[in-house]
Amino acid sequence: AFISTAIITIFKGFDSFLPWKADGFFTNYVALPTFFFLWLGYKLYYRTKMLRPEEVDLTTGLRAIDEEEQRYLEQEAAKGPQTSPGSGQSHELVVDQAGEIEVLGECDPETYPIQKKDLTPEYLRDHVHLRARTTHIASMLRIRDELRRKVDSWFESQAFCHINTPIITGNDAEGAGETFRLEKIEGHHPADAVHTSTPPPPAEFFARPAYLTVSHQLHLEALATSLSRVYTLSPCFRAERSQTSRHLAEFWMLEAEWAFPQNGVLGICDLTENLIKDTIRPVMDSDDFSALWKGGNESRRKAVQDAVTQTSPWARITYTEAIEELQHAADTVKFEFAPQWGHSLQSEHEKWLAEQYVGGPVFVTDYPSQLKPFYMRANDDGRTVACFDLLVPHVGELIGGSVREERIELLEGKMGDIQGSEWYLDLRKFGGAPHAGFGMGFERLLSWISGIDNIRECIPMPRWSGRMLL
Ligand code: 4AD
Ligand code: MG
Repeated sequence: AFISTAIITIFKGFDSFLPWKADGFFTNYVALPTFFFLWLGYKLYYRTKMLRPEEVDLTTGLRAIDEEEQRYLEQEAAKGPQTSPGSGQSHELVVDQAGEIEVLGECDPETYPIQKKDLTPEYLRDHVHLRARTTHIASMLRIRDELRRKVDSWFESQAFCHINTPIITGNDAEGAGETFRLEKIEGHHPADAVHTSTPPPPAEFFARPAYLTVSHQLHLEALATSLSRVYTLSPCFRAERSQTSRHLAEFWMLEAEWAFPQNGVLGICDLTENLIKDTIRPVMDSDDFSALWKGGNESRRKAVQDAVTQTSPWARITYTEAIEELQHAADTVKFEFAPQWGHSLQSEHEKWLAEQYVGGPVFVTDYPSQLKPFYMRANDDGRTVACFDLLVPHVGELIGGSVREERIELLEGKMGDIQGSEWYLDLRKFGGAPHAGFGMGFERLLSWISGIDNIRECIPMPRWSGRMLL
């Protein structure tokens, strides 16, 4: 204001010297317009300079910046971040008259499948090779990567050793009969033709049946007897035909095993709860996390946030208590399957427990032994095992874990004649130690924290029964 007043006063001084004394002629028609155009020229000149392409230094890839331009950049930086005038975007790319754009990869805007409009998850799954170009899937992939790094540093802080366990295996760890069997394709190798007219019958490549692993637990257990604390984040394969929003044929599981667990099954619950809270909290601050929830269900987002920030522990109830609560609820809630002791909790029961009964994550412990695999440690009551499932709203089961049976006599009885698993008994026979572990579906974790309804959107290229596009 001071400078403008001073300049106008000077202009007015000129006006008073003009012979025809036309009041304000010089100020209004000569000086102020000239002043304005000089200022506009200055602005345009510097904007143009900012974008001059010939200033790129070809050796470093950086543009040479002269002093004037440096000053301009500093001025702009001092103004702080500037928002784009376009709605729903923070930045835009401006190419003015002095700039040039060279199209490196052409794309026909008429036929490009990823148009700028709402595309359904189903449509995007049909274009899985292109879907990472949407903001939503790209954000999910970055969150997935960030979470993996947080998980690694968390386990490092707890003195766990990351293990690359095998994917080809001879066992069906869960005994659920959902394994994919491997088979060598008998090709027409020229060497076969030279030596024999009739090729020998195909032999098992590994001299025994081989499968894609359903879980890395048993191999981790072997390594825990040496390294004490081990974990892996690895792919698992299950030939389940169920078409649900929480089952994939290829998914990633975070699994850990450690020796000398404290406080039985509740100690494992504590460890997994800390793992989730410590790794998710920092991820929630990221822009990608906000992008995933944008336009989503705010109360659901808040519930996740509250769960991972609450200092009090998540609820813990036994399977027997859960069945009692479900049976009470069955008076008013219409369950498709009647809750009954000794029967598996159905997905509707798990969701009721997490969403209505507790309203947040809940550990259900001590399931009947007949519902769980052979490796879980028998409780003294003779009918339940020292295990838990962590149930979370909208997803259901997120983690399964247990204390492992270290008593060889009990284990032998439960294993029956599982062939090729003698090595598993050796772990007890030759100096075993009490140990415990768990497995968490990585896609289910992502689905819960980011409000993505189907885990098919939580993995780059999903596979399920009837579907493997690339
Ligand atoms: O409960 P599950 O079958 O437990 C195991 O495999 C144990 N051996 C793990 C361990 O103790 N090391 O699977 C563990 C978790 C489930 O809670 C679920 O989150 C996830 O793995 N999961 C699946 N995720 C996606 N698609 C599938 N088909 C899944 N099956 C299990
Ligand atoms: Mg389970």
